[in-house]
Amino acid sequence: MANVILKNLTKKFKEVTAVDNVNIEIKDKEFAVLVGPSGCGKTTTLRAIAGLEEATSGEIYIGDKLVNDVQPKDRDIAMVFQNYALYPHMDVYNNMAFGLKLRKFPREEIDQRVQDAAEILGIENLLKRKPKQLSGGQRQRVAVGRAIVRKPKVFLFDEPLSNLDAKLRVAMRAEISKLHRRLEATIIYVTHDQVEAMTMADRMFIMNDGLLMQSGAPLEVYKKPENKFVAGFIGSPAMNFIDSKVTKENGDYFIDTESFKVKIPQAFYSKIADYAGKEVIFGIRPEDLHDKQFFSNATTFNTIKTKVDVIEPLGAEIIIYLNCGKHSVIGKMESRTQVEVEQDMEVVLDMEKTHIFDPETLLVIV
Ligand SMILES: Nc1ncnc2c1ncn2[C@@H]1O[C@H](COP(=O)(O)OP(=O)(O)OP(=O)(O)O)[C@@H](O)[C@H]1O
Ligand SMILES: [Mg+2]
Repeated sequence: MANVILKNLTKKFKEVTAVDNVNIEIKDKEFAVLVGPSGCGKTTTLRAIAGLEEATSGEIYIGDKLVNDVQPKDRDIAMVFQNYALYPHMDVYNNMAFGLKLRKFPREEIDQRVQDAAEILGIENLLKRKPKQLSGGQRQRVAVGRAIVRKPKVFLFDEPLSNLDAKLRVAMRAEISKLHRRLEATIIYVTHDQVEAMTMADRMFIMNDGLLMQSGAPLEVYKKPENKFVAGFIGSPAMNFIDSKVTKENGDYFIDTESFKVKIPQAFYSKIADYAGKEVIFGIRPEDLHDKQFFSNATTFNTIKTKVDVIEPLGAEIIIYLNCGKHSVIGKMESRTQVEVEQDMEVVLDMEKTHIFDPETLLVIV
């Protein structure tokens, strides 16, 4: 198996810079997820690794070997495409065997590998069917099977689950994670779905506009976003952002949003001191807003007065849209919270979990 390194990778299509000086190191056997909104350069990055796009500049290493000038077929990678790209006239067996036949593998070896892959994926009983006789999930398995039989050093997956319905997507997500453990392979997986990325990745690489915005283990990125883009992209509902000002009173620092004023925890003072009197962007996740009744550390410095605008009960939790004067915020609270639309509600902000951003650079301050 192999590590994959991208050094200053840039890919331009005429005036469009699809991938902009990206540096990524993916470890051997790692499940790496490239995630970001549509058009951010995920597929282009993957295709450059596969050799289907030539890098405009920068270097690509697979297993410590520079592969920029290596043909796709010699890169020892297998790619699973979003649309599966199965051959409609071939049955499942031959779809999986095709790449090995092209490479002139002996017949017994091909047979063994196809049987093994079919068993891993639980599709032994489908080998005689044509793709059109399969469900979406089954087709997806065949596409993965076609990659597995190659025994590549690196698997590349481009949004393989996006054609499946929500329930099947969740099931296949778990299956691909299991498959990763079983194959002990390096996997680079592309998705625009942050939940998919969070649940599957050993490490995720978040892209926007061709740029790598941040990388790290999912919870690390969730807890410590380095910039406003990542803070807003990871987490659902998205983090609340409010343009605010930092004020200093009697040695203490506050966030003043005009709708409410809350105290910044002392642990953040050294980092926030330079911003006294200046504008910042105050960020807090919906799950860090709490019903005052159920939060033990409510004080006048972290509690805000709101009015309930909209309620979305989800069973295990409840999403509440709150109006707090000039601004609106979204809270995700426990289902035991009982509120009605138009009702006044006191909400506690867990200020230890707040994130504050510089409005110029959009980088995190605390
Ligand atoms: N062959 C091409 N010619 C010109 N521009 C291209 C080409 N391929 C991609 N682009 C542009 O490069 C940018 C990145 O595209 P890419 O397909 O990598 O995005 P993506 O992150 O995979 O998006 P999606 O989630 O929609 O699949 C986009 O602006 C796209 O329009
Ligand atoms: Mg894409």
